[in-house]
Amino acid sequence: MSLDINRPDLTVGVVGTGAMGRGIAQVTAQGGIKAIMFDAAPGGAAKAKAAIVETLKGLAVKGRLTDADVAKADANLGVADKIEDLKGCHVVVEAVFENLEVKQKLFGELEAVIAPDAILASNTSSIRIASIARSLKHRDRICGMHYFNPVPLMKLVEVIRAADTAQWVVDAMVALGKRQTRVPVVVGDTPGFLVNLGGTAIGTEGLRIYQEGRASASQIDAVMRDCCGFRMGPFELMDLTGLDVNFPARKIIYEGFFHDRRMTPSPYHESLFAAGKLGRKTGGGWYAYDAKGAKVDPGADYTTSVAPAARAVVMDSHNEKLVALVVASGAETLAVDDGKSPILVAPIGKDATTEAIERGLDPKRTVAVDVTGDTAKRITIMTPPGADAAVRDAAAAMFAKSGTKVTLIKDSPGFIAQRMVSMIANLGCEMAMIGIASAADVDTAMTLGLNYPRGPLALADWLGVKECHEILVQIQAITGDDRYRPSQWLRRRAMLGMSATTPE
Ligand SMILES: NC(=O)c1ccc[n+]([C@@H]2O[C@H](COP(=O)([O-])OP(=O)(O)OC[C@H]3O[C@@H](n4cnc5c(N)ncnc54)[C@H](O)[C@@H]3O)[C@@H](O)[C@H]2O)c1
Repeated sequence: MSLDINRPDLTVGVVGTGAMGRGIAQVTAQGGIKAIMFDAAPGGAAKAKAAIVETLKGLAVKGRLTDADVAKADANLGVADKIEDLKGCHVVVEAVFENLEVKQKLFGELEAVIAPDAILASNTSSIRIASIARSLKHRDRICGMHYFNPVPLMKLVEVIRAADTAQWVVDAMVALGKRQTRVPVVVGDTPGFLVNLGGTAIGTEGLRIYQEGRASASQIDAVMRDCCGFRMGPFELMDLTGLDVNFPARKIIYEGFFHDRRMTPSPYHESLFAAGKLGRKTGGGWYAYDAKGAKVDPGADYTTSVAPAARAVVMDSHNEKLVALVVASGAETLAVDDGKSPILVAPIGKDATTEAIERGLDPKRTVAVDVTGDTAKRITIMTPPGADAAVRDAAAAMFAKSGTKVTLIKDSPGFIAQRMVSMIANLGCEMAMIGIASAADVDTAMTLGLNYPRGPLALADWLGVKECHEILVQIQAITGDDRYRPSQWLRRRAMLGMSATTPE
């Protein structure tokens, strides 16, 4: 069997015309395809069509569409009063309430109406496609078609291949996604599909650092923005999407992967969720928000006005970025310890304590510096417990003289940036290895779906594949936590000196 997605009379049914269904119908019609909308609520589909046409006219006023584009899309949008009116559709995409029974019943009704070789797709975010298909006669033509909100702006669509989905169905839906001007990626029928699973790493690792009392939400967010190029850190993102959305999603994915420690949710997340502090929508979550809705940020910068900047430092690990920062601050680098200056180290995956003890350094004067990413904007420093505060502050003041911002955190293996980025990369590698999607699609989906500056595998390359692996090995050794076990995908490529994006 096959379906020619380019046939001129191609007709796509869209069932459920809420936020998602409207967007799906809009991109279908704009792609030059006839879209017939149906909603259980009387008048719902007609209202949706009117809203879409209104949106398109608004775009024409702004000059983004021509009047002819609007007229063409308008002509492509049809409204069905009853489910039987979808009889002639070649594809039906469902976007009704997120409830298995509702979806199963609807798919049963649709199967009785449409042709045996028409494709049925669900836009579900969290229900296994195979469970929707289970009771149907022709399970091979059922798949997922997971769009992102708001559909017209979010280019990604995940084509979900369930246990029985036929290859011709996957091919047809990839082609349909392209005609809808989306970027399709083919994904396995696993919890969270691709983007929602991949997005687990940044949230859970940010929460882990916070829970361990190593850094504040504001510090973690600032490092992710300034050093790693993310538009938002994990806490800002949780507040934006709402804890009523992201906490249950974390739990579903954790349960779905049978308590894999890489996906462990945090009781601190649950505490805020239980308190109804859901983020921006409730005026408070990880951050407070003022009367105008602006975030009240306690700040992430460490400044000491009293400490004189260090004039000399002992360089105990050779790191070019670190040396450049010291030189830019005007301080002298000492090759031999003078017994009083800060001792600068740049550990990979280790905490300052481990680094000092293993190398026989004076822990009171050891200052560990993370130079990951954009050091012109921000660096992170930490010291072992009981360190000399005056020596630490002298080092912080010296770095500030070089023009960068300084974030001071509690001693932590992998600081913030190393921990966060290596965990995002590690989960991406694991997803590629277990076949949730191809390595290339993992990166494409995460950049388009979550606005990441790079996909997870490209992030491993950015960090250095060997370094990324080493960070995880060290954190796992220090914490004894399997959460940090490196993906075998990453390990092999690190050993071979290859890009993490190298396919099998
Ligand atoms: N909102 C998102 O960010 C998002 C993103 C990706 C996927 N999804 C998924 O898309 C689906 C729809 O989400 P939404 O946010 O558009 O929901 P919504 O509540 O805005 O819209 C659902 C629509 O479905 C209609 N409906 C319910 N049962 C129906 C039935 N049996 N037959 C016909 N119409 C029916 C409702 O009247 C309503 O108009 C869900 O499965 C959701 O998980 C949502």
